[in-house]
Amino acid sequence: MSNAKHPERNGLVCVFLLIRHLVYLLILFLFSGTSFAELAGYRNAIASAHASASEAGMQILRDGGNAFDAAVTVAAVLAVVEPYSSGIGGGGFWLLQRASDGSQVMIDGRERAPLAAHRDMYLDTKGRVIQGASINGALAAGIPGQIAALVHIQKKYGSLPLPRLLQPAILLARNGFVIDAIYQRLARFRQDAILQSTEARRIFLVDGHIPATGHLLKQPELANTLELVAEQGRDGFYAGELAKKLVASVRSAGGIWTDRDLREYQIVEREPVQWQWRGLHITSATLPSSGGIVLAQIMNILDEFEDVSLTDIQKIHVLIEAMRRAYRDRAIYMGDIDHVKVKVAKLMSQHYAGKKSMDIDMQKATPSTFFDEINRNVQESDNTTHYSILDRQGNRVSATLSINYPFGSGFVPEGTGVLLNDEMDDFSLRPGTPNAYGLIGGEANAIAPAKRMLSSMSPTFVEDSNKLLIIGTPGGSRIITMVFQGILAMYQGMDADEIVARRRIHHQYLPDVIQFEPDALTAQQQVQLKALGHQLQPLDRPFGNMQLILHDKVTGRTSAASDPRGIGLSIVD
Ligand code: GLY
Repeated sequence: MSNAKHPERNGLVCVFLLIRHLVYLLILFLFSGTSFAELAGYRNAIASAHASASEAGMQILRDGGNAFDAAVTVAAVLAVVEPYSSGIGGGGFWLLQRASDGSQVMIDGRERAPLAAHRDMYLDTKGRVIQGASINGALAAGIPGQIAALVHIQKKYGSLPLPRLLQPAILLARNGFVIDAIYQRLARFRQDAILQSTEARRIFLVDGHIPATGHLLKQPELANTLELVAEQGRDGFYAGELAKKLVASVRSAGGIWTDRDLREYQIVEREPVQWQWRGLHITSATLPSSGGIVLAQIMNILDEFEDVSLTDIQKIHVLIEAMRRAYRDRAIYMGDIDHVKVKVAKLMSQHYAGKKSMDIDMQKATPSTFFDEINRNVQESDNTTHYSILDRQGNRVSATLSINYPFGSGFVPEGTGVLLNDEMDDFSLRPGTPNAYGLIGGEANAIAPAKRMLSSMSPTFVEDSNKLLIIGTPGGSRIITMVFQGILAMYQGMDADEIVARRRIHHQYLPDVIQFEPDALTAQQQVQLKALGHQLQPLDRPFGNMQLILHDKVTGRTSAASDPRGIGLSIVD
């Protein structure tokens, strides 16, 4: 008999079916060891910039490790196979979310300035920036944070022993890996710096030349160093024989490290910044990364404009003006929060965005010179790396790591295999006047002993009731605008592959140009933007290497994607 005439019966049947379904799920949950995360359909997923790292991390998950264990393995492998991007001679930010209690934390493993560092250390007697001094060689290196961060993550959040987590990296360093075309391109770019260091030259070049395609790169000293860390934890790096070698070698090459620098290096657990945007809950990196704050500012400024009423070109115009204003604030106000006062809540408020957007003219671009000519930004290199991880329990990791320039400082202390960063260049070398790139640094980011240099690295989580996105990318000062465009693409309904492939545009206040990838703007859009007074700088090569995981809570589907611009690999298991 049909129930069409008896709506009350229909209702009762629905309630009955719903209760039966819930009871069924409860029984499944209680008696089959199924977790709520599994009911939500989370899968193990990793996206990283290198296949060896994604595969090694996934094996850790298959062996019963959690996302935090895998994060240690992926970082360690990347340190071996991507010496041009990150490494144990560098640092980074790890954004973690623990499924058991929903807690979120940012592990700040950013490099610190040596204790003997001082504000003018890269200036000559006439107060001019010494070209290359903050980029090449031992003096350019900050005190590395990566090993301290990895050991901390394993101890506090992981479940497998450190030697197991470091094993894949040790094997790859000892047995070698076949170099890729990116290695060749970036080694060529940094060949001069690498040639200055006897150890780096021996390890990364062949008789001073770029290794040929198919070359198997072995790093036995790095394997030994990783083994020391596996046995001794952080002391294997920051104390004892290895620390002595690092300090002695740095000092004999003109650097200023001391034993105390290494001994006293500490990671910091920081509360990430969080905000809402168009119904999305966003969690991102906090200072000393400017990433989250600048992202929030861009979004807040956009919300001052009624999106639906804007034409396509007006949307791009407003976006560029939002980027310009947010990056200007980055240059002026942001630095290491442990050393300078930064009004984070104010900078991230909608009220402040309202004020910032008042001088946006819909008819013409605001020249960056319209603002006070002070405190321009330090440019960052376009290297660095990112990976995203989700496990079946729902633990999440978004991590962006760096040694700054490709191959960092190009300097390897003797007998250590540790390629040192040149992250000191992320400081304002000389606040108020142009740096080596013609850009100007902010007072808040001036060099001081033990201070962390300002970063753009933006590991980020985005979530609403339908979706979860774990996202990040390398790309120096362009990182933040890339992550923004990734989030926007998700908001617009793109899938994981579409988000990473989407063409990108960028503006960072100074230089006052819109940089864009080939095909990111149509010929007509370029004409229209020029008519509004924008200066365009088409780039001849794409930028970024985004690695993301997208989980659809409605369908239960987990997908992952690696940027087609790179050679990364994403795996969902
Ligand atoms: N060195 C790149 C960054 O920290 O943003």
